[in-house]
Amino acid sequence: MTKQILSALILFSIITASAFAQEVYSPDKNVQLHFSLNTEGVPVYQMSFKNKVVIESSRLGFKIKEDGQDLNDAFSIISSETSSFDETWKPIWGEESMIRNNYNELVITLNQNRTQRVMAIRFRVFNDGVGFRYEFPEQPNLGHFVIEKELTQFAMTNDHTAFWIPGDYDTQEYDYVESRLSEIRGLMASAITSNLSQTSFSPTGVQTSLLLKTDDGLYINLHEAALIDYSAMHLELDDKNYIFNAWLTPDVQGDGPYMIAPSVTPWRTVIVSDDAKDILASRMTYNLNEPCKIEDTSWIKPIKYVGVWWEMITGKSSWAYTDDLKAVKLGITDYTKTKPNGKHGANTPHVKELIDFASEHGFDGVLVEGWNIGWEDWFGNSKDYVFDFMTPYPDFDLIGIKNYAKEKGVEMIMHHETSASVRNYERHLDQAYQFMKDHGYNSVKSGYVGDILPRGENHYSQWMVNHYQYALEKAADYKIMVNAHEAVRPTGISRTYPNLISNESARGTEYQAFGGSKANHVTVLPFTRLIGGPMDYTPGIFEMDISKLNPDNESHVNSTIANQLALYVTMYSPLQMAADLPENYNRFLDAFQFIKDVGLDWEKSVYLEAEPGSYITIARKEKGTEKWFVGNVNGKQDRISEITLDFLDKGKKYIATIYSDGDDANYKTNPQSYKIKELKVTSKSKIKLKSVEGGGYAISIVQIK
Ligand code: NOJ
Ligand code: CA
Repeated sequence: MTKQILSALILFSIITASAFAQEVYSPDKNVQLHFSLNTEGVPVYQMSFKNKVVIESSRLGFKIKEDGQDLNDAFSIISSETSSFDETWKPIWGEESMIRNNYNELVITLNQNRTQRVMAIRFRVFNDGVGFRYEFPEQPNLGHFVIEKELTQFAMTNDHTAFWIPGDYDTQEYDYVESRLSEIRGLMASAITSNLSQTSFSPTGVQTSLLLKTDDGLYINLHEAALIDYSAMHLELDDKNYIFNAWLTPDVQGDGPYMIAPSVTPWRTVIVSDDAKDILASRMTYNLNEPCKIEDTSWIKPIKYVGVWWEMITGKSSWAYTDDLKAVKLGITDYTKTKPNGKHGANTPHVKELIDFASEHGFDGVLVEGWNIGWEDWFGNSKDYVFDFMTPYPDFDLIGIKNYAKEKGVEMIMHHETSASVRNYERHLDQAYQFMKDHGYNSVKSGYVGDILPRGENHYSQWMVNHYQYALEKAADYKIMVNAHEAVRPTGISRTYPNLISNESARGTEYQAFGGSKANHVTVLPFTRLIGGPMDYTPGIFEMDISKLNPDNESHVNSTIANQLALYVTMYSPLQMAADLPENYNRFLDAFQFIKDVGLDWEKSVYLEAEPGSYITIARKEKGTEKWFVGNVNGKQDRISEITLDFLDKGKKYIATIYSDGDDANYKTNPQSYKIKELKVTSKSKIKLKSVEGGGYAISIVQIK
């Protein structure tokens, strides 16, 4: 836009205070973004896809704390600039080896007339959706400020179907509820009590990443990208008008994020398509993050691992060394003088067995939880105890295990349960990371179970978001990969810091041992939680009857063995666990073969079938080989899946090994029924298979040379 037109526009808006409007289209013209300032100077946007409205007229802005000068109206346009961007980048690991980042951008710079404060809104319009963020340039009239409320709206056109979890500030470990928007209020109480956790901030408060489906066939995902130095965004639904209002996780005092100009907010994202498969294929969230900031990334590698873990989760063994919960205090009591409980998982001979198993079956790593002192005191709820992340229990021979693992060509994976004592973790962090490096550990699973100590912060407030980022960036300094559990859900940050190798931040397999999860849970997660980054879902459970491991645990894993295999393909993560016990794998070595074979890092991914809550089928080609792996997870009733292998190279011949549900498989009553067959296939082959509810299939395809 020329300067003359711009000043004419400013004049126009000042004189008449009437609307300014501008449109931007995606490169393929399917997505349209419309920005305007209304007659009160309120910034407003609208969005459509193939001429169907996705977001109705929705306002933008902020309520500022203790200022009375909310950044929400009386704006005029300083400038409006458009540009285009098209670049292809190479992720360090991912669902494909090259990612195209192609968008048209609109930056509107606004001046608030009564305060002379400047705020810009940057929109990026991609073929798969829109991202926008607020920017506060350096300026005389805006320095420090506290956001009381972000006024961003996402106005829906109708009473869509949503896949949602309650707006909890501390956990995402919920089963998803599928309902109409108008039903959320009525279902909220039961959604909350079905979980071990806290409460929602409102009877219509839900979390992102949120998946919506419209009656006219659109799939919409609402989330955020690049959540840095800000509070995580939840959504509160105005269920009379079907408008989602941004709801920022407050800090312990009830405040939103503390800002200092110059600064920017995270991107608010709306991914849209009329084909559910495109939501899974979207890379918009990564594209809205900064390029990799780690120079030497040679130490960042995908890992397939086993661990001393499921046995504790099921209650078969324990993290703690003794049952005398109050007997031991760090530096006060010598553990060798306490009575061992006889079921401590992380004991040297047992860990060595795991190392042997990992080495025999070609796994990269072994995770050991409960290796370090302090679990008794934590379980005993003592507030005066904190972990030190460096002192092993007397029956865990740290050096001996390090040497043994090295001999066997297996990597040890560190575990840091912070017990949510975040300042304690921060004060130990340098030493703890150095300790890892000194003992040959290159990756850490960290955890934040419980209420945040010492300030009672929320898990998703700005202070905590900054902590996770601090721990991640410091880990990069030490060349350590991080797999954080109970941390804030990811927002594509692993583009910038690919040492964030995975996260939990959703209801993982552990809940199958805490009473069970919905059989279709894994057909929702890729549309919601996985939009922001990979999940350490810890699949691979073969013994679904948990009482076989621990007679006191009646839980049942709501899944078939074939479904468990498929998860290695459908739940993308460069960090994948084979979570069950070696004794259970030894009973089904033919099925276990798939877990051993399946790739971790991908050249390309082809999304073959998808419907949230119902089914997902994905084919992926392993990076650096000619092998393909296919996974199908099935959520609701029995279903016939039909796929064509046209993703294979034309003219080449392959052997496909198919692991599918047995004819009599049933996720409740007969989950271990599966069949395996080998077939010669080409790009012309079609495969038709029945998957049961909670079932699925997995296929490995190897080229015949
Ligand atoms: C919860 C984590 O999700 C789980 O994987 C871990 O074993 C426990 N916390 C103990 O740290
Ligand atoms: Ca957890």
